[in-house]
Amino acid sequence: SPSDPDLVERARAAKEKLGDKVFVLGHHYQRDEVIQFADVTGDSFKLARDAAAKPEAEYIVFCGVHFMAESADILTGDDQKVVLPDLAAGCSMADMATAEQVAECWDVLTEAGVAEQVVPVSYMNSSADIKAFTGKHGGTICTSSNAERALNWAFEQGEKVLFLPDQHLGRNTAVRDMGMSLDDCVLYNPHKPNGGLTVEELRAAKMILWRGHCSVHGRFSLDSVNDVRERIPGVNVLVHPECRHEVVAAADYVGSTEYIINTLEAAPAGSKWAIGTELNLVRRLANRFADQDKEIVFLDKTVCFCSTMNRIDLPHLVWTLESLAEGNLVNQIRVDKETESFAKLALERMLALP
Ligand code: 13P
Ligand code: SF4
Repeated sequence: SPSDPDLVERARAAKEKLGDKVFVLGHHYQRDEVIQFADVTGDSFKLARDAAAKPEAEYIVFCGVHFMAESADILTGDDQKVVLPDLAAGCSMADMATAEQVAECWDVLTEAGVAEQVVPVSYMNSSADIKAFTGKHGGTICTSSNAERALNWAFEQGEKVLFLPDQHLGRNTAVRDMGMSLDDCVLYNPHKPNGGLTVEELRAAKMILWRGHCSVHGRFSLDSVNDVRERIPGVNVLVHPECRHEVVAAADYVGSTEYIINTLEAAPAGSKWAIGTELNLVRRLANRFADQDKEIVFLDKTVCFCSTMNRIDLPHLVWTLESLAEGNLVNQIRVDKETESFAKLALERMLALP
């Protein structure tokens, strides 16, 4: 079983054997059995920033999903090898924007005569190809913790933003944080000719939102918010900005996984919280703050883990660490040089945001 004490011991021994040669990064959505072995935990922004924090480490074991490991490879030295314990740990949202679809979208924008005014802003949750497209066309990457700053920067460079691939983070940031209206946003559907938009709609729009979403955060609804407010009087509703607009609009607080943790750390004893994000993190926080008299519940009654984050489990971590300790490089994530150079440009623009 995953919590097998034998496996815990084996992971510990392999990590000890590797010593400074290995640096383990863990995203907040990882299982407890995995997160206990992380040298650094964080949200997507913090992990991108910290990936290069240990240049002497030969192996960076990324406990998270594929796009995060790719970003770590882009941002770390050539002699550092990034390893993803299960190659099937992808992200359904990142898969919603392929390089071909995005190239086609750019053609549509060019034909409509608006491409010159458009600055791409791509969410971290995208493939290295999409990040490279973004860098090539003068855009930046953002995460859920700096989306507003990224958009402010983009609107200094151009009049319109093509926001990829999460429509919700794009819309929520534009409308909730920056005071744009819903009418300033249009939805580009990659499965329809011309994205399902007319030339007039493209010309009028300020935010062109890609039709992608997170299936985990998409499970929360306005009903989830209304139900929990009825069930727990005085509850504070705290959600991730990947949630749908009506959920974010009805919430009390909105932010990245790191923001969620910091907010709960600062919350007074006796306060009650309903959290709209992935379940591994919510459970960990509920346990952590239980003895401080902070009541923390999951925003919805249905259980939602991120199934791809959950693919990284203790058996995979043990196999990875033991292989590396024996000198076998497994599951390396490598971005090719050309893609890397443009993707790095976009990532570095994000890291340089004020
Ligand atoms: P953050 O950790 O940046 O808030 O992102 C959440 C997420 O969905 C990562 O896939
Ligand atoms: Fe992707 Fe959603 Fe999972 Fe994050 S929680 S890795 S956006 S599917």
